[in-house]
Amino acid sequence: MKPTIGFIGLGVMGLPMATRLQNAGYALRVYNRTKEKTQSLVNKGAEWCESPAVVAEISDIVISMLSTSEVLKEIATGPSGVLSKLGKGKVHIDMSTVAPAVTGELDKAYASAGRYFLHSPVLGSIPQATDGSLLLFVGGNDTAYKQTEDILKVLGKQVWRFERVDQASHTKLLCNLFIAGMITTLAQALVFARKTGVNPRILLEIIGQSALNSPMYQSKGASIIDGNFTPRFFLEHMLKDINLMLDAAREAGAPLPAIEAAQELFAQASQKGLGKEDYSAVVKVIDR
Ligand SMILES: NC(=O)c1ccc[n+]([C@@H]2O[C@H](COP(=O)([O-])OP(=O)(O)OC[C@H]3O[C@@H](n4cnc5c(N)ncnc54)[C@H](OP(=O)(O)O)[C@@H]3O)[C@@H](O)[C@H]2O)c1
Repeated sequence: MKPTIGFIGLGVMGLPMATRLQNAGYALRVYNRTKEKTQSLVNKGAEWCESPAVVAEISDIVISMLSTSEVLKEIATGPSGVLSKLGKGKVHIDMSTVAPAVTGELDKAYASAGRYFLHSPVLGSIPQATDGSLLLFVGGNDTAYKQTEDILKVLGKQVWRFERVDQASHTKLLCNLFIAGMITTLAQALVFARKTGVNPRILLEIIGQSALNSPMYQSKGASIIDGNFTPRFFLEHMLKDINLMLDAAREAGAPLPAIEAAQELFAQASQKGLGKEDYSAVVKVIDR
């Protein structure tokens, strides 16, 4: 019989991921701060729970997909958090992009209580969450991983395993370092092109035929040119991730000067109230 899954955090990513698990035949127990976002799952048989603790109490495996490290800490180890009711030997997999130091702390707290914590951040956005083609970086205990492997394979097309949770957390930040660099390069180039009378669509076409191409340049380039900033990945989350990578790099003694420049742009965009737009809206502070 398939294990019952508790899913906490039904936002932009959590909802399509949980829907995919439900469609694959897993029974779900769900909690989200904003209850209405669980409605489509509840309509198809998921059980609403009043707190993360209740989710943990009546699920075999708990998954969370949350905004920040602070929120994850509260959901995991707060007074009505997962750890307070998770059964002995059971697993909580968090899939959010959060601080490596925090996943390390949670791993220790769960282990000393005889429970398991895995960190499995994801690369990919709404389309990949919907069709199960996320890339997953899973850090933590092997016994726990084996309990969750079948579930993770419904969500992702490939899994990379890491011995420690913080290695998985760092890997996600390293991938997002590329995103931060690429989006700021793309946004600058498109503004520069327009201001010099070069058609930005022709520029994208040339890049598309070259070794410089990336699917990300094509999709975000087209939406920037069209002025479409419907969020797939909130600008406020990109700024959060830039701050996380700068903190982690400082800790490790790795210089990230270009990311410091990107931080300045994203901070300005956030101050302009663009946090709930797609992260490509950073172009609006370049295109003054
Ligand atoms: N979107 C992407 O393309 C993408 C891709 C890879 C990774 N990620 C990462 O995945 C995570 C989730 O991203 P998302 O795009 O799904 O973001 P989101 O839509 O903002 O979802 C955040 C979730 O956290 C919950 N939350 C926020 N503050 C809370 C609080 N104080 N207490 C309890 N719950 C709280 C939200 O609840 P409410 O519904 O009540 O607000 C929501 O369920 C983030 O760490 C993000 O960086 C996102």
